[in-house]
Amino acid sequence: MRILLASDHGGFELKKQIAQHLAGRGIEAVDLGVNDGASVDYPDMAKLAVDAWRGGGFDFGILVCGTGIGISIAANKQRGVRCALPFTPFMAEMARVHNDANFLAFGGRVDYPVPVTDLVDGFLAARPEGGRHAARVQKISALEAT
Ligand code: RB5
Repeated sequence: MRILLASDHGGFELKKQIAQHLAGRGIEAVDLGVNDGASVDYPDMAKLAVDAWRGGGFDFGILVCGTGIGISIAANKQRGVRCALPFTPFMAEMARVHNDANFLAFGGRVDYPVPVTDLVDGFLAARPEGGRHAARVQKISALEAT
């Protein structure tokens, strides 16, 4: 498995934690930055990440900003991206089971009820259920033409 990571300045510390966790699990992570608190714009990081993801070779992308909100919105403006913003283990699991999400977003300034790495693990352990959920995901894709 190969995962792409990117953040703005509000998310770089949490991104680092996620990267260390993935490395500990033997999962390859490619970190596109940023790696310090110097201000950058989260839409730029979302574009950088999605451009890299479109180049192929990645199973998922994980994006982090201060809240996760801005970077997930920016990611979801780009065709083919289904970026989820899970806050609980249930949401992380369903992001894959029902929504077949290909990106996750988190907030480095958010107090989560569980470690974010648990949310990542729950997402990765889940599988898309297909069936009616796949049909709904297809309808999401169709909305990109509107
Ligand atoms: C940056 O200050 C902050 O706005 C950004 O990290 C994010 O929280 C936006 O949604």
